[in-house]
Amino acid sequence: MNVVFVAPDGTVREEAATQGERLLDVAQRAGQPLEGTCGGDLACATCHVIVEAADFDLLPPPGEEEEDMLDLVPGARRTSRLACQVQIDAALGKLTVRLP
Ligand code: FES
Repeated sequence: MNVVFVAPDGTVREEAATQGERLLDVAQRAGQPLEGTCGGDLACATCHVIVEAADFDLLPPPGEEEEDMLDLVPGARRTSRLACQVQIDAALGKLTVRLP
């Protein structure tokens, strides 16, 4: 499946992703500016992305710890996720996320 990354300036980059991969790893491979400083320990929120509304509902919901972390993220929206907590499900076909 492919992940479509939309930069704040509207630049679009599409990257192939495999089943079970973390969205954060796909983003970094695609050269997206997600630091992921804590390496996925839910301690930094530098992996914040905004998922397209239609795709958001297809993802497993965020866990409580992720929700708590997102509450602290400036500019977080209803469809915000932490990319280190999202695993690629090939059944999605395509996933579109915006960089904040
Ligand atoms: S990489 Fe730190 S919270 Fe996701």
